[in-house]
Amino acid sequence: MKMEEKPIDLRSDTVTRPTPAMREAMMNAEVGDDVYLEDPTVNKLQDTAATLFKREAALFVPSGTMGNEVAIHILTQPGQEVILEESSHIFNFELSSMAIFSGVQARPIRGHRGIIDPEEVKRAIRPKAYYISPTGLICLENTHNHGGGTIYPLELIQAIISLARSEGIHIHLDGARIFNASVALNREVSELTKGFDTIMFCLSKGLSAPVGSMLVGSRELIEKARIARKMLGGGMRQVGILAAAGLVALETMVERLKIDHQNAALLAEGIARIKGLRIDSAAVETNIVIFQIEGLKADAQEFAKQLNQRGLLCHPFDHITLRMVTHKDVNREDILKALDIMEEVCAKLLR
Ligand SMILES: Cc1ncc(COP(=O)(O)O)c(C=O)c1O
Repeated sequence: MKMEEKPIDLRSDTVTRPTPAMREAMMNAEVGDDVYLEDPTVNKLQDTAATLFKREAALFVPSGTMGNEVAIHILTQPGQEVILEESSHIFNFELSSMAIFSGVQARPIRGHRGIIDPEEVKRAIRPKAYYISPTGLICLENTHNHGGGTIYPLELIQAIISLARSEGIHIHLDGARIFNASVALNREVSELTKGFDTIMFCLSKGLSAPVGSMLVGSRELIEKARIARKMLGGGMRQVGILAAAGLVALETMVERLKIDHQNAALLAEGIARIKGLRIDSAAVETNIVIFQIEGLKADAQEFAKQLNQRGLLCHPFDHITLRMVTHKDVNREDILKALDIMEEVCAKLLR
């Protein structure tokens, strides 16, 4: 890579930069003190999110992690268990926040590409006995990041929700990338999230806002969430500056996620043709591409390092698995170039 060239950054859709329209909206945002509920731009963003999800209320939070952990806090009692999938973001990348902040323990169960079977959920629900920690909450993730951007089949979601309801257990959705599922299925987010107590979604991933996520639910739950957010130090002041970008994200960046999905499919098809790489390209449903190396004289870390030296950034998961994520700051030409770089490195490293 020549020094002046920008790398092709496929590490995550979190690397997206705000659009010119976002910067403009941020500059002109009307603001107030949001701890006093007086920021008109934050209020507008929260109302817009609540309307989109057909819920009573929504809360702007600084990160997806805070949104998930606030939801766990308001939906559980200390001493309870939370059922989630073993490769989920909440279980793997939010430290032990649920134990520390909410006093609950995780009961992870194995899914298939991140998707859990209602029967497995049923088996994981703890029997009612005074010497057993009761199950308080189930968390699902849609799309599933480590599963490879997998979309939860709606009938499985509904089966798990009715199971939760019949057992009196709450249910939260980590919908960091729910808009990817929505455009891929051509279904409204309100339809995909019906029945969850709370839904977290991110403005700062494929939707490209610089900061922020939303927690959506009933008015009562969102009022509790506002208190939990404050406990974590997430009560912000003239944060309309950031909410303004979030509004532009919801207004202008949803439909274009289709382009990211097309680029991910192109990337996966190309990877399938490269000797030294293995992928089930038909399994790529949204903007996340997970693949393995095989027959190379290097592990995934070394392979990623060599790609990096040629201007292609990606994320190694384990010694053979890597992830690439498409987003608005990479185009079709970048994908074709990324494939050329991978082919060149593989040819060099083949056994
Ligand atoms: C599925 C999922 N949930 C939650 C998060 C957390 O978001 P944040 O990085 O804003 O805390 C991420 C971030 O990558 C994610 O992929």
